[in-house]
Amino acid sequence: MATNALPREAWNSRLTFILAATGSAVGLGNIWKFPYIAGENGGGAFVLVYLVCILLAGIPVMIAEVFMGKRTRTSPVLAVEKLAAESGQSTRWRWMAIMGVIAGMVILSYYSIVAGWALAYFPKMISGAFVAIDDAGSSALFNEHLSNPWRLLGWHSLFIIMTMAVVITGVTRGLGKAVEYLMPILFVLLLILLGFSIYQGEFSHAVKYLFAFDFGSLTMDSVLAALGHAFFTLSIGMGAIMAYGSYMPEDTPIAKTVLTVAALDTCVALIAGLAIFPIVFASPAIEPGEGAGLLFISLPIAFGSMPGGIFFGALFFALVSVAAWTSSISLIEPAVSWAVDKGKATRLKAGIFLGGICWLLGIGSALSFNVYSDPWIFGLFNWFEFSDFLTSYVMLPVGGILMAIFVGHMFGKSALLESMDIEGWLFDAWRFVLRWITPDLIKIIFFLGIINIFL
Ligand code: TRP
Repeated sequence: MATNALPREAWNSRLTFILAATGSAVGLGNIWKFPYIAGENGGGAFVLVYLVCILLAGIPVMIAEVFMGKRTRTSPVLAVEKLAAESGQSTRWRWMAIMGVIAGMVILSYYSIVAGWALAYFPKMISGAFVAIDDAGSSALFNEHLSNPWRLLGWHSLFIIMTMAVVITGVTRGLGKAVEYLMPILFVLLLILLGFSIYQGEFSHAVKYLFAFDFGSLTMDSVLAALGHAFFTLSIGMGAIMAYGSYMPEDTPIAKTVLTVAALDTCVALIAGLAIFPIVFASPAIEPGEGAGLLFISLPIAFGSMPGGIFFGALFFALVSVAAWTSSISLIEPAVSWAVDKGKATRLKAGIFLGGICWLLGIGSALSFNVYSDPWIFGLFNWFEFSDFLTSYVMLPVGGILMAIFVGHMFGKSALLESMDIEGWLFDAWRFVLRWITPDLIKIIFFLGIINIFL
């Protein structure tokens, strides 16, 4: 069959990039965060705004970000400096990428706490603690888990060590394999859960909740949450996908690949929502607006009552941990590769130092679920909530505006066409949206949302 080795090789490396980018995109954002913030923001209208934001802001910016990485083949901060020089712009644009480096580290600091919950739920599932449990019992177990700061710190430390181990070794084959084999299993498990929820839960109620668009209940801060989540879930606005794009094989088409990744990512989130909410509605002790514990309280009830639930439950939380792991690596990669490209440090030293900072910042988030859970920042947020607010509501959207302007306005059509796999009306549509819709859309949502939160 394979008479010509070349196309096959190219196909392989293209697949590797899709896997790495999907590994970065699909993570806690899809399985943990999307259902919980959809629930906090009232469901349907939020979901619709989220989908619109993926389309009008997420995908255009993601294409722009991959373009920047692929064209320069270097770490985000240096990439932006190089592109600014190439197009005759000020090197101050580098601050866009530096802000991204910081955003990634802050996200990792609290992402690791939640990933730690998933890690901890693996042995908990095996222990059989959830067999035949009811909603009140599951809530109690989760709250008990949060109550001990030392325990949360222990799992947080383990997750940071796992992340840094991969980042220090560099882009490994092992990780590609993890994505190639384990992500499809996670997907199948989600489908099994979905089947269970259709059969046992309040499925039609959940469908109505997620897809009936009641705009009456939509506030501007929900709209900002949806926009911020579109960035968060696609891993864009801070340079992660730019860093991955810098490793992209020359012949890999940017736009097609981005569309594939975005479609996979959106499917996983919607399926996770459709698996979780039927259980929520069948459980009087769980509210859709339950908050950050929604996934960890609702799904164990399903596992507890299904045949083979111990096995499926343990497998599920192991795979969620892996999904979080393949995402967390991209959060710190821009920081580590910057230090290395600058010639300032080896991967080992940079990894230990930068990972150490994330670990320290994460302590505040571990304490936000017990000792310091009160909203002491602006009277609105605890440390965990503030880390999420600062990154998802502020830094990622601002990063998105800047990237859209940078690529949309600082580059001529021919420079873009050179690197792009789309042409004709598709290319024009992308560039038009990136130039004239994305930045203003984000600006309007951002200002109205922030005003709504603080006034
Ligand atoms: N997208 C990942 C998730 O949904 C999280 C993530 C990884 C991320 N890298 C990122 C978010 C970069 C923002 C920016 O879980």
